Amino acid sequence: MCNASVIMTQTLTLRRPDDWHLHLRDGAMLEGILPESARHFARAIVMPNLVPPVVTAAQAAAYRDRILKALPASADFTPLMTLYLTEETDPEDVTAAFANGIAHAVKLYPAGATTNSASGVRDFDRVRPVLEAMAEIGMPLCVHGEVTDPSVDIFDREAVFIDRVLEPLRRAIPGLKVVMEHITTQEGVAYVRSAEAGLGATITTHHLIINRNHILVGGIHPHYYCLPVAKRELHRLALREAATSGDARFFLGTDSAPHADAAKESACGCAGCFTATNTLSILAHVFDEMGRLDRLEGFTSLHGPAFYGLPPNDARITLRKGDPVAYPAKIETGAGPVTVFDPGFPLHWHIE
Ligand code: NCD
Ligand code: ZN
Repeated sequence: MCNASVIMTQTLTLRRPDDWHLHLRDGAMLEGILPESARHFARAIVMPNLVPPVVTAAQAAAYRDRILKALPASADFTPLMTLYLTEETDPEDVTAAFANGIAHAVKLYPAGATTNSASGVRDFDRVRPVLEAMAEIGMPLCVHGEVTDPSVDIFDREAVFIDRVLEPLRRAIPGLKVVMEHITTQEGVAYVRSAEAGLGATITTHHLIINRNHILVGGIHPHYYCLPVAKRELHRLALREAATSGDARFFLGTDSAPHADAAKESACGCAGCFTATNTLSILAHVFDEMGRLDRLEGFTSLHGPAFYGLPPNDARITLRKGDPVAYPAKIETGAGPVTVFDPGFPLHWHIE
């Protein structure tokens, strides 16, 4: 037998993954990009930052119907809806939405923190009754953890949010289950690790790959611009360590956030990386590189359901390592082309 011709195939079988932070948009964009998530993911926590935002249970139910209608016939995908927290949110509407399965979480956007967050929260005292009701019923609060104070440097906004907002909020309402969404810093990782209970964090695919140099060196790369913005390399390394550590408080939320190319490649480009198409190949690459493929299933398929109190998926997917994976550079949608996140290196893990 000739050794040179031996092909080193590796396969990995996982429970079907879920995406605990996803932007599906609406209308033609929804139709165009939904198959990219539904292909590999069984469920997703769907972000409510539409224009206007998804605030009430009735709006979430209507949005869920539009998503289900846009699904390809062959897809097996369940959208898990969230409600956008405003200062006018009615605690009873929220608790009823949770009880009857219409909403699985509430999303807190500090007003002005990110794309379509103008209706978010300015005065935290005004949402206290909602948060107290959520703590009582065990409904998670998904937090966009960045302060909006213009005097705080954009690269410091997550770390400052932990001290100024998140820690006081968690002290004020100790029973509240909180997900720090898309953490990007070693401070975020350390804060989650320091918590006794009731705190988890999602980590995106792209923050495991890029640091701030990728956005800014050699010209501005708009498709690497997202919020929270990617930070220094040491933070990326802390995220990789956390994601691959096996610690159940860290789980996948891709924050795949499509914007049409014209809106990204602009003098005032929108924030968001679109990773739905190649996320699993990228994650397998990262866990492989870290020598921790055995922990991939925890991150993509087990820790998230455990935090949300849902069973993991029964179906399995198989990943196979081989020749470079071919994936489209752009997804064509009725709302314009959407560039797929380019990790900057070839991917070898195929999803079967
Ligand atoms: C998201 C979007 O485009 O809706 N953008 C992003 O950069 N992540 C909003 C968000 O999650 O902050
Ligand atoms: Zn997001």
